[in-house]
Parts: sequence; C-alpha cells; structure tokens
Amino acid sequence: MSNLIVVLAGGLSGERKISFLTGKACSKALKKRGYKVITLDAKGYFVEKLKKLKPKIVFNALHGKYGEDGFVQSILESQKIPYTHSGVFASSLAMNKELSRLIFKKNNLKVPKYLLLQKGHEGNLIKKMKNKKIKFPIVIKPISEGSSLGVYICKNRMQFKAKYKKLMKEYDRVLVEEYIPGREIQVAVMGEKPLGAIELVPRREFYDYAAKYSSAARTKHIMPAPLSQNKYKEVLALTKRAHQLLGCRGITRSDFRFFKNKFYLLELNTQPGMTKLSLVPEIAQYCGINFEDLVVWMLKDASYNR
Ligand SMILES: Nc1ncnc2c1ncn2[C@@H]1O[C@H](COP(=O)(O)OP(=O)(O)OP(=O)(O)O)[C@@H](O)[C@H]1O
Ligand SMILES: [Mg+2]
Repeated sequence: MSNLIVVLAGGLSGERKISFLTGKACSKALKKRGYKVITLDAKGYFVEKLKKLKPKIVFNALHGKYGEDGFVQSILESQKIPYTHSGVFASSLAMNKELSRLIFKKNNLKVPKYLLLQKGHEGNLIKKMKNKKIKFPIVIKPISEGSSLGVYICKNRMQFKAKYKKLMKEYDRVLVEEYIPGREIQVAVMGEKPLGAIELVPRREFYDYAAKYSSAARTKHIMPAPLSQNKYKEVLALTKRAHQLLGCRGITRSDFRFFKNKFYLLELNTQPGMTKLSLVPEIAQYCGINFEDLVVWMLKDASYNR
C-alpha cells in the first residue's frame, strides 16, 4: 500500500463548486504537514482511478448527493479503503431530512413542524398545513440537499406556488415546514465531543448560499454564540445527542434556530464545509485547534467499517 492520500472532491452534486473549495483547503493543509496528496474529482470513472491509485486513506471533501449520502462511503467500504467522516448508514440518514427528523423527534429533539408534499399534490397544501397547525410563513426545501440550495421562505400561497413549481423541475417531493424566527446557531462535533456554538447573523433574508460563501454578503459570525451559560451547554448537549443518534463519526455540524428560548434542530451535516467562511474550522480555531490540526485529526480518525 502507498502513502498516498486521495482527497475526493467535486463530484456530481449541486455543491460541486463548494466541494472543490473544501478539497483545496484540506489538501493544502495536508501537504503543509508533509502528506503526499492527490485530489480526485469524484465523477465519471473515478472508482477505476481510485483503484489504480491505491490510496492509504481517502479524505472525503465531497458535499451533497453521492458524496455525503452514503454512496461514496459504500464504494470505499467495498474497497476497504479507510475514509474520513461518517459511515454509510449515518451519512444516508443525516442527508435525508425526512428520515433523520423521524429519529430526532422520536428522541425528543425539537424540530420544526413539517409536512411532505409529493409532486402533483400541491392542492392539498392548505389542508395539510391545517392538520399540522402550520401557518405562513413557511419554508420549502428539498429533502436531501445542502448549501441552502432550493431553500425558500414563502410568506403566502402565491410565493409558495412559484417556488414549488421551481423545485418540482428537479425534485418530486419537498419538505414544507414552519418558519422559525429567531437566531441561527450552529454547533460542531469532533469525535465524541461538541466543540462549541457559533451564531450567524446574515444581512440577507436568511442564511442562503450567498450568505454562506460570499464575503461580500458580510454575514456576521459571532463565536462563541452569545447565549447564557445554560443555553450554551444545552445546545452542545443536543448536538452531541443528534450526532450519536444517527451514529455519526468524525466531524459533524448541526444547524439550529433558537426561538423563545428553545432550540429547533434543522439538520445535521456529516460533511460540513471547510472553506474560508466555513464554521467548523472557525469553531475549532476558537478551541485552539488550527485548520491544519483539524484536517490532520480528521485524517487520523479515518477508517473503514465505520
Ligand atoms: N424552518 C426554518 N425556519 C427558519 N429558517 C430556516 C428554516 N429552514 C431553513 N432555514 C434557513 O435556511 C438555511 C438552510 O437550511 P438547511 O440547513 O435546512 O439547508 P441545507 O441546504 O441543508 O444547508 P447546509 O448548507 O447546512 O447543508 C438555515 O440555515 C436557515 O437560515
Ligand atoms: Mg444547514
């Protein structure tokens, strides 16, 4: 076996561009620490290429479909190549907002009230909203996406119709959920340990794609999140629980809304971004773990049969 580290990046998801940013940052950090690194675009015949390269470890820098949902993880399992982040099952659970929520709810983690809407059944929206006691504004979003792609806030039925139509070009089911006002809090977990909570204050309508990745959008990052000591501890404990419930490994990041003194878990990310404006590195840095330390830790944590 070689000493080669393959950074898997790019891929086929809507987050391809962001994944290259994550991959570039991580590969740079690994090279600085003396590792031999090749970046491989996870599309086309990349599995054949991977087999030829025979890497010692795969650093998974993919986001979204195929990279974050268990697909790539199962390929790596079948090749017995150690890889970073969560395993097959945890990845697919976390990527699916419908399934992960069922588990969160069952274990008393608070999530927004939501319903699922199938293509062609939009006429049932108002009835379904009444049944679930959901009122406008609502948020509609794909079940398995990231980077806020396809996430829309709709203040009324007209806005819903327009956005739903747009989403139905790409997806055949969407999540419709109550809009939770309040604050945006995100928490990183490293191994078994929740590291810290950060608050994001977007200057846009919400923490959308631009607010996440463009410095021109000037989203304010407040680390540590200004919460009372008890609430800070509480959100860290909730995150640890969510990470454990899905059986996650390595690094994860959970996204919350904080409203009327309660935390609503929006989702857990098993392949959180590692770009310049990303939150896990910022939280780690606050805890005295610099970017290179973090990436090396992730590499050392890699294994198969996860
Ligand atoms: N129910 C909600 N109430 C209020 N804001 C919401 C709600 N759902 C989503 N948002 C806003 O949209 C953002 C993106 O939502 P979400 O985390 O579900 O999408 P994502 O595409 O999976 O994001 P990520 O980049 O973290 O993978 C949230 O951070 C929040 O700002
Ligand atoms: Mg999110």
